[in-house]
Amino acid sequence: MGSHASRSRPLAAGKSGPLQGRVRVPGDKSISHRSLMLGALALGETTIEGLLEAEDVLNTAAAMRALGATVVKGADGVWRVNGLGVGGLLEPTGVIDFGNAGTGVRLTMGLVAAQPIAVTFTGDASLVKRPMGRVLNPLRDMGVEVIARSGDRLPLTMRGAATPVPVTYRVPMASAQVKSAVLLAGLGTPGVTTVVEPVFTRDHTERMLAGFGAAIDIATDAAGVRTIRLEGRPELKPQAVTVPSDPSSAAFPIVAATVVPGSDIIVEGVLMNPARIGLIETLLEMGASIEVVAERETGGERLADLRVRHAELKGVDVPAVRAPSMIDEYPILAVAAAVAEGETRMNGLEEMRVKESDRLSAVANGLKVNGVDCSEGHDWLVVRGGPVPGGGLVTTHLDHRIAMSFLILGFVANTAVAVDDAAMIATSFPTFENLMTGLGAAFQEPEHRAA
Ligand code: S3P
Repeated sequence: MGSHASRSRPLAAGKSGPLQGRVRVPGDKSISHRSLMLGALALGETTIEGLLEAEDVLNTAAAMRALGATVVKGADGVWRVNGLGVGGLLEPTGVIDFGNAGTGVRLTMGLVAAQPIAVTFTGDASLVKRPMGRVLNPLRDMGVEVIARSGDRLPLTMRGAATPVPVTYRVPMASAQVKSAVLLAGLGTPGVTTVVEPVFTRDHTERMLAGFGAAIDIATDAAGVRTIRLEGRPELKPQAVTVPSDPSSAAFPIVAATVVPGSDIIVEGVLMNPARIGLIETLLEMGASIEVVAERETGGERLADLRVRHAELKGVDVPAVRAPSMIDEYPILAVAAAVAEGETRMNGLEEMRVKESDRLSAVANGLKVNGVDCSEGHDWLVVRGGPVPGGGLVTTHLDHRIAMSFLILGFVANTAVAVDDAAMIATSFPTFENLMTGLGAAFQEPEHRAA
C-alpha cells in the first residue's frame, strides 16, 4: 500500500503515423473508489467487475482492508468485498497511505467520520500539498476532531465522532469529493444529512448510494441548485457492480486520434454520464469526428462505443459552466487546442490549481516549452493553435494527466516531446503506453530523441 515507485521514469514521444484499432480503456476511477468504499459498508459480499487496477484504487482497496473489510481479487478477475455494515469499520493499527489519490483520502475521511475511531492519513509528495480543509471543515461540524499540520495538510490524524451530528452543508466550490465526503459521513450519522450543491458535479456517490439501498432524495431547483438529503444509518445491501470505462482515460486516445492525421479508432464501453462528457461536447464544437456507434445502459449509467476519426479542429470558447463536467480533461483539451486553427479560451479553471499538481500552470509551462503560444490567468487559459514545434522537456509535478497529455502532444510535434516522469501514469491508467502502442503510436527514451 502507499506511494508509487519513488524513481522517476522519463519518456518521450515523436510524430505518429495514423492510429487505428479498437480499444477499451480501464474502469472508471471515481466509480472504482466508491464501489470499494460502499462495499466495505454493506453487510455481505459485494462483487466488482472491471475495477480499475491502478495505484490510486489499489490504495483504497488497502485502506478498506486496514479498516477491517475483506477485499480480494478472484481468479476470475472479479473483486469481492466483504463489508462490515454502516458503523462497523475498525480502527486501523497503522498509518493509511493513499499515495497520489485525492479521491481516496478525502472520501475515506468521510467514511470514518461518524465512528469513534482514530485514523492517521498520509500521501505522496503531491498529496501532502493538497488542501484537506475543504473536507475537514464540514466533518468538524459533524463532530470530527483533527490533528493536522497548519493549513490542514497531510499527514493528519482524525478521530471520528462518537455522537455525530447531521448537518446541512452548502458546498462552496465545485467539488464532487467534498460533496461525497459529507454524504459518506452522513451514512453513519443519525437523522438526515443535507448537502446543497450549487454547481452540479459528478453524481456517482448519489447513484451508488441509491443502488446500495440508502434512502437518498435529490431535488433540483429552477437555478440548477441540487439539494441532496440522505437518511443516516441505513443497512446497505451488497451489490454486483460493473465498472464502465473511464471517460477521463478515454480522453487520451480520443484526442490522440482526433489530432493525428489518418486516424480511425473505436473506444469501447465509455461511461457517458452527463457530468463527465464535457470534453466530448467541446471537441465536437471544435469540429471533431466522434460518433456514437453503439449505446447501452448498465447499472443506471449510459455507456457508448465511440468511433473517432482525425479531423481539422478550430478554436472555441469553452464556457466556465462546463468546467465541472471536464475538470480533469483540460490538460488534454489544451493539446487539441494547440493544433486547432485559432484561439481556444478556457474559463472557470480555478479548481485546476488544486489537482495532483497546479495543473493550470503545469499545462501552460508544458505548452510554452514546446513552442505553443498560450496565456494563463488565475482561472483561465488561452491557447493559440498552429504547427507544434515540440522539442521541450515537460515537468509533470507527479501528475499523471500532465504526463499523458504531453506525450500525446509529441505525436503531432515536429520534434519529440519529453516528460520528466511517466511513472505516475500508473496511478490511473497503467495500460496507457501499451494501449497507445497497440493503436500504432510509439514512445522513446528521451536520450534518443535528438538522434
Ligand atoms: C473526483 C472528483 C474531482 C476530480 C477527481 C475525481 C471524484 O475532484 O478531479 O479526479 O471521484 O469525486 P474534485 O471533487 O476535487 O473536483
